[in-house]
Amino acid sequence: MSGRLAGKVVIADVLDDAGAALAAEVGEAANYRRTDVTDENAWRDLADVAEKRFGPVDILVNNAGIGFFKTVIDTTNAEFERVLSINLTGVFLGIHTLAPRMVALGHGSIVNMSSNEAMRGVNRLGAYAASKWGMRGLTKVAAMELGHKNVRMNSVHPSGTDTDLANPLHKSADELQPTYTIQPIQRICKPREIAAVCLFLASDEASYVCGSKFAADGGSSIGRYRGALPGNPDRAVGII
Ligand SMILES: NC(=O)c1ccc[n+]([C@@H]2O[C@H](COP(=O)([O-])OP(=O)(O)OC[C@H]3O[C@@H](n4cnc5c(N)ncnc54)[C@H](O)[C@@H]3O)[C@@H](O)[C@H]2O)c1
Repeated sequence: MSGRLAGKVVIADVLDDAGAALAAEVGEAANYRRTDVTDENAWRDLADVAEKRFGPVDILVNNAGIGFFKTVIDTTNAEFERVLSINLTGVFLGIHTLAPRMVALGHGSIVNMSSNEAMRGVNRLGAYAASKWGMRGLTKVAAMELGHKNVRMNSVHPSGTDTDLANPLHKSADELQPTYTIQPIQRICKPREIAAVCLFLASDEASYVCGSKFAADGGSSIGRYRGALPGNPDRAVGII
């Protein structure tokens, strides 16, 4: 996109339906390509398809991710490896495939979708938190290696956002509200609010932002309300 007002996008997902439907809705400026982010060859194909359809790629948003709730003791090796392969190796492969092309192009921006679980510890999310902390570290190193080549990289750290991952039962924002009273902005995040942060980081508006961990978490990572102390909102009983 780089300074221009409109971009063209290739949407990639391991599932066909939602991504293909979204690309169809967007129209000529979008394309869909089924891609498993753990597969290096699939990344190469994706990059080639994107270049052929729209020209050189100068933005990558590494967004694919999975997670589950289990204690570290109960998590199997296969489950742990599966989360790391998608959430961390997938990001590595995306950078590994597209960053050299951006360097050759002379500019680029990569946005890695981490989590507020990479800002702290949380019970029953060991594999997920490990993958997101790993991504945060990978972002810092790659930003150092690529920033002086005019390719910026940053990580985004959302808290609960209204998608299948965090709201599988598709409850309303009002129904979910009580679980968000522990953070300053006391509601679930809208996906559009995270997209806006990604758009900013991808654009030239963020030309001096490199290697940052960008919290978009309603303030959940800055601290938590203590019920017994002054300044605590009445309803601060949530769990997020
Ligand atoms: N929803 C939240 O509360 C929240 C909070 C913090 C971070 N995140 C992160 O945001 C990102 C997007 O998640 P979401 O909330 O939209 O969840 P989601 O489950 O709606 O979307 C995740 C997508 O990743 C895709 N995916 C899974 N494995 C893949 C693979 N091997 N290759 C390609 N695609 C694959 C899934 O098919 C799915 O479409 C994830 O990285 C997630 O960890 C989400």
